[in-house]
Amino acid sequence: MVGITALGVRNPVKLAGVPSKEIGLNDVLKAESDPTYVVKPKIYDEFALPNQVAVVTGGDGGLGLEFAIVLCELGAKVYGIDLPEEPGADFIAATRYAKKLGTSLHYRSSDVTNQKGISDLISQIAAENDDQIHVCVAAAGILGIEESCTTYPSEMFKKVLDVNCNGVFFSAQACAKQMKAAGIFGSIILIASMSATVVNREMNWIPYNTSKSAVVQMARSMAAELGPDGIRVNSLSPGHIRTKMTAAVLDVDPEMESFWASLNPMGRIGAVHELRGVIAWLASGASSFCTGSDILVSGGHTIW
Ligand SMILES: NC(=O)c1ccc[n+]([C@@H]2O[C@H](COP(=O)([O-])OP(=O)(O)OC[C@H]3O[C@@H](n4cnc5c(N)ncnc54)[C@H](O)[C@@H]3O)[C@@H](O)[C@H]2O)c1
Repeated sequence: MVGITALGVRNPVKLAGVPSKEIGLNDVLKAESDPTYVVKPKIYDEFALPNQVAVVTGGDGGLGLEFAIVLCELGAKVYGIDLPEEPGADFIAATRYAKKLGTSLHYRSSDVTNQKGISDLISQIAAENDDQIHVCVAAAGILGIEESCTTYPSEMFKKVLDVNCNGVFFSAQACAKQMKAAGIFGSIILIASMSATVVNREMNWIPYNTSKSAVVQMARSMAAELGPDGIRVNSLSPGHIRTKMTAAVLDVDPEMESFWASLNPMGRIGAVHELRGVIAWLASGASSFCTGSDILVSGGHTIW
């Protein structure tokens, strides 16, 4: 039975050892003590994902496809999951790019709101890869319609929550289960949004904002449970980025882009490739002490 100590700390607490590596000052001191030691930068290796397996939902386009490409560039074998039966032309081009890089990008069709469907698919992917899944990026999401909170239709409200909240959970849950069973110290990244923290000015997106707040708290909750297994769970919250999702608003109202741009101190909206660095950091050992955090990348939108 789990006991409670005088400090209120549950006992026994599972303590993980601090990883010790020949990097940074340790590497400097090694070079100092051994003149024959050949030094080379280690920081790039810290981001590398050689022989790792990654899953990206919403991978057929937008942010998800860019994340898949980054993970391939870092050496991972990547599975993109999305709704269409067959992937689009950009995904197919990315599979050829991955092959030229010496790795591979694969497509699987699935609806993340179907818990059994996504769980079976992730088990299948694990089975194809000696039970190994190292990285999960849950990026599938929808915006819903823009409508006053007083009249927002229930079906659409439920649908946005189903994809953005349930779907993210079912994907992360399925990957976490595989990581835990295989004893892998994996990284799970839930794609939230700055809309989890601030309200998009003059945009009536009540279910979207609600769902994204839930995702941030979901990441913290999963991080708390999975930390003792060495599995890290963080959320990534982008600001305004031009993708198919935002094009649906920007292309209808040409003044919207300059309005959104005026809401951050950089005076512009972001591009998909501006999230490459943060996804590489979160997915890799370079962020090994980061869990339960929400990483905001918004061009400073949330500082005002
Ligand atoms: N673009 C932005 O400005 C922005 C900002 C903050 C957060 N986000 C988040 O980033 C993520 C990616 O968005 P994006 O901008 O690339 O949009 P997008 O519309 O280009 O991509 C979303 C992808 O999710 C897929 N998808 C939707 N429902 C699904 C389901 N039930 N099962 C499987 N796949 C499904 C879509 O088919 C699509 O390919 C979303 O979670 C979004 O909320 C985007």
